[in-house]
Amino acid sequence: MNPSHDHLITLAIETSCDDTSVAVLRGQTVISNLVSSQINRRFGGIVPELAARAHQAGILPVLRSALDEAHLAKKDINLIAVTYGPGLIGSLLVGLNVAKGLAFGLKKPLIGVNHIEAHILASFLEKETPTLPVVALVVSGGHTLLVLVKAIGDYQLLGSTVDDAAGECFDKVARLLGLQPAEDSMMGGPLIDQLAKHGNASKFTFPRPLLKDRNLNFSFSGLKTSVMNFLKPRSSNEIENDLSDICAGFQEAVVDVLVEKSIRACLDYGVSELVITGGVAANSRLRVRMKERSDREGIKLFVPSPAWCTDNAAMIGITGWLKYKKGVISTMELSPQPALQW
Ligand code: KG4
Ligand code: ZN
Repeated sequence: MNPSHDHLITLAIETSCDDTSVAVLRGQTVISNLVSSQINRRFGGIVPELAARAHQAGILPVLRSALDEAHLAKKDINLIAVTYGPGLIGSLLVGLNVAKGLAFGLKKPLIGVNHIEAHILASFLEKETPTLPVVALVVSGGHTLLVLVKAIGDYQLLGSTVDDAAGECFDKVARLLGLQPAEDSMMGGPLIDQLAKHGNASKFTFPRPLLKDRNLNFSFSGLKTSVMNFLKPRSSNEIENDLSDICAGFQEAVVDVLVEKSIRACLDYGVSELVITGGVAANSRLRVRMKERSDREGIKLFVPSPAWCTDNAAMIGITGWLKYKKGVISTMELSPQPALQW
């Protein structure tokens, strides 16, 4: 490793969805990471226009606070990493424009980062880092996929959801259950996670879609429909009384599928390390079950701390830094790619 890379100051910007986040890293170490979740989901989802406007209002104050917290000034920045996709075009544009402005004004390299790649490489923010190759399960509100990470920048998609993402399913089921978020910006997944802790997961059983299929794809929309059909004949009182058990039963179905397919991917590809990441990787039951199962199979499990699992700019910073070390630099023509794939 080039020792000078360890001291590089990376400024990272993430605005792909509804969190405005800026982080400052020295080498691989995060010095500051601010996440401002200011967009409400009271319309039952994210409104792209409102998201973009909120990013616009928030980005410069968040940037200033991240630098202040790191006790650094703009002149100290060595490289700028920014998410360029996938995500909402208007939101991505806000982060990209600020990043480009900084790179141009400070004459520093700009590195465009794929948001999903960053979720995976968030595992490199921890003290103990994986040794490649690893299998990565990315489970968020927008994505559910299994990826074979052969090297930084060398990925093979092993499977993905054919319909809803796991996090989306958590959010939709939370809404079906009438779990009104405490704050507008609160998502459904953590609420189900909390309630399920007091529930009996075997009282109600929900389907495990594609569990028995040999392929590594996922499907969650049928599971959501099955919860909907389960709730239909029940009164709100009955639902209220069984809320924790319903949450636990539903959560167990999602976790079963995620655990089985991830372990199968490791065994099929002869890989002995597994990373789970993305917002849903913050789920307490998933963390426990995946650990039990991977221990049994002799697979080493890496789960970034919850703050690095949900959307954050630190993961963009570490990915930008790792790419820069490999000689990757973007041009000023870097444009947002809402549907960016691998
Ligand atoms: O990665 P993320 O912050 O944003 C996206 O890129 O989507 O993931 C957000 C998703 C939401 O669907 C949220 O409900 C889910 O992650 N999530 C959880 C938990 N914490 C966040 N799902 C289940 N259990 C949790 N503890
Ligand atoms: Zn994400």
